[in-house]
Amino acid sequence: MKAAPKFTLLAVTLIAAGICAEAIAQPKPEDVIEYRQAAMTMIGWNFGALAAMVKGKTAWDAKEFSLRAERLHTLAPQALEGFAKGSDKGAQTDAKADIWTHPEDFRSKYDDLVTQTSALSEIAKTGDEAKMKEQFKKTGAACKACHEKYKAD
Ligand code: HEC
Repeated sequence: MKAAPKFTLLAVTLIAAGICAEAIAQPKPEDVIEYRQAAMTMIGWNFGALAAMVKGKTAWDAKEFSLRAERLHTLAPQALEGFAKGSDKGAQTDAKADIWTHPEDFRSKYDDLVTQTSALSEIAKTGDEAKMKEQFKKTGAACKACHEKYKAD
């Protein structure tokens, strides 16, 4: 039985690797909640600055608009990890449990955010003020569609 120790070592290594993978794949619910709120806060921060420009509360600046649109485009896909299974409770949250009981509808609203922020960053590169404002509205509608259904106020 010369092969036995080798096999045991391999088995131990695989089990250890499995435990590590699980630790990475399944963070604690409170950490997931903290992450999604932080991600949403960053999205809101940049979106708010765009809103101020669009509403004329701050001066129109196409370069600044483009920078923030690019940030939203980068942040939007990242927030999805913050809605991992099992993070419906574990800390103070405004996320409704419906997110996890209606995953397909939630995902389609999420995908719309990714699509609209991606379009926003593309259109922002053109510097066309009217088109940028129009796409800003579409992006805002994507936020609203999800918040209305899945965020408690
Ligand atoms: C697919 C769903 C969805 C979309 C799209 C979405 N959000 Fe959210 N957002 C949520 C949920 C759910 C919460 C509540 C998270 C929590 O409390 O755990 C939230 C929370 C927030 C918060 C509060 C964060 C905090 O805890 O302080 C802000 C700000 C925010 N979103 C801004 C935005 C903006 C701006 C957009 C659009 C550019 C957007 N969201 C798009 C689902 C979404």
